[in-house]
Amino acid sequence: MAQVTVMDHPLIQHKLTIIRQKDTGTKDFREVVSEIAMLMAYEVTRNMPLEDVEIETPLVKSIQKTLSGKKVAIVPILRAGLGMVDGFLAMLPAAKVGHVGLYRDEETLQPHEYFVKMPADIAERQLFVVDPMLATGGSAVAAIEALVKRGAKPRNIKFICLVAAPEGVKVLNDEYPEVEIVTAALDEKLNEIGYILPGLGDAGDRLFGTK
Ligand code: URA
Repeated sequence: MAQVTVMDHPLIQHKLTIIRQKDTGTKDFREVVSEIAMLMAYEVTRNMPLEDVEIETPLVKSIQKTLSGKKVAIVPILRAGLGMVDGFLAMLPAAKVGHVGLYRDEETLQPHEYFVKMPADIAERQLFVVDPMLATGGSAVAAIEALVKRGAKPRNIKFICLVAAPEGVKVLNDEYPEVEIVTAALDEKLNEIGYILPGLGDAGDRLFGTK
């Protein structure tokens, strides 16, 4: 069985229902995607390590907690992944942001890189790869391949999406079993042209108001 974490938080599920509806317009779609991304960022950072630090409050010296461990980078897959960046940055304002751009070869239908720009130290970072839809898994695998080629370690990568298809989860799991997949919903299946059912349509078009 595929390894995937479904975030069944009531706020996330409620907001997901809003963006699934075909009559939700660009402004609301964009805002709610950002809100869901923020909630998901809150949840996926739950196990970040902490260390003790000595501080001075206005009254006394005190030992308190501060984040330790790896620094973070958020990596949207262009273009729909951009819709999740602000929500992640709201929770992780000091994170670096890398970008992966892929296009699909018309003949082979395979994804190819056209733009990859990463922080220099990606090998040392915890990476949150964000893309609203995990459909066939082709782009997710290609994006992670692009990161691994540049030194990232699969065990330090989490793939975060809003809606996943079982087919995409399997493809990504088979190729990169160490990459944790976190989704707001695991839907039924792909249709014959690779859209997720019930899904929410084309996430990029709905975010940017294109067709
Ligand atoms: N990409 C999308 O934006 N939507 C789908 O349903 C599948 C892939």
